[in-house]
Amino acid sequence: MKVAVFSTHAHDRASLEEANARHGHELVFLEPRLAVETAPLASGFPAICAFVNDRLDAEVLAALAAGGTRLVALRSAGFNHVDLAAALNLGIAVARVPAYSPHAVAEHAVALILALNRRTHRAHARVREGNFSLDGLLGFDLVHRTVGIVGTGKIGTVFARIMAGFGCRLVAHDPHPNDEVVALGARYVPLDELLAGSDVVALHAPLTPETHHLIDARAVSLMKPGVMLVNTSRGALVDTVAVIEGLKSGRIGYLGLDVYEEEADLFFEDLSQEVIRDDVFARLLTFPNVLITGHQAFFTAEAVASIAETTLANVTAFEQHGRPVHEVSAERTA
Ligand code: NAI
Repeated sequence: MKVAVFSTHAHDRASLEEANARHGHELVFLEPRLAVETAPLASGFPAICAFVNDRLDAEVLAALAAGGTRLVALRSAGFNHVDLAAALNLGIAVARVPAYSPHAVAEHAVALILALNRRTHRAHARVREGNFSLDGLLGFDLVHRTVGIVGTGKIGTVFARIMAGFGCRLVAHDPHPNDEVVALGARYVPLDELLAGSDVVALHAPLTPETHHLIDARAVSLMKPGVMLVNTSRGALVDTVAVIEGLKSGRIGYLGLDVYEEEADLFFEDLSQEVIRDDVFARLLTFPNVLITGHQAFFTAEAVASIAETTLANVTAFEQHGRPVHEVSAERTA
């Protein structure tokens, strides 16, 4: 099947070409992000492959449908950026990669926690400059600390397992409690109680209308003074302006982000020669207790290979049976 692959970077191409040796599709790699302006590039392609910052709203989907596209194969787990109702109306099937490596993301969340706590990123920069002072590098023992996990699905569960291994106390919040997390010693509590009682709050819930700005000014005001907040799920779970106020007041003592509300204009590109025009993001970069990575939590060799294989398996199933293996549709998510 002819597949237009949007937002292609070198690593996407390498992993998809390797997996495609088993699938035999005709992959056309396109560097631009999918948007209204770039949708015509997919004209004549029955399938397109998209990533997290590609635009898949009603307008773009209509343009894709007009060009003959019938399948959107996401190479991501999250599908919050797709207008599923519009896709259904237009007869476009949408597929995703529901699970590739929950370990990749959970381990990255832990990497952020450890680095923020012991300020490894700052220590590294200091040592390279010949500064071996310990001032400002004081950390805390994680053992016996309370870690609040918002969303205990695949990633949250792996994260819970790792933090249980550190000897942390676990509290969790999820509309669908998970026995495995309870078996690790976690207590499910209402969100407000989790926020009030946790030394570390980790977000592993999907972006939905209910979770949009889950961490807003009110949530920040409930948190323990000096709390560590880590978000590796989707940027818009956090109201960034409210969190900046929390950092300024000291309520938030540490912030680790792998995702950012307005990341589409920033992440995955080398902008080192350009001026950052996003003042909110620029403000975040000024805090010594903020550590940001550019949506790389998923980025391990195992996860990337698994994403490529599942993405192409979706395309193959659609070609052979008219339905992708891992379909998301407005009907099913309603
Ligand atoms: P999952 O679907 O296995 O688990 C999500 C959990 O969140 C479910 O248990 C669900 O019940 C829960 N949830 C839903 N609404 C909630 C709410 N209001 N409060 C608390 N919990 C709620 O998803 P998985 O695989 O664990 O991924 C979680 C999220 O991580 C994805 O939706 C995606 O946005 C993000 N992600 C980020 C990546 C990165 O590279 N930074 C890579 C992969 C996923």
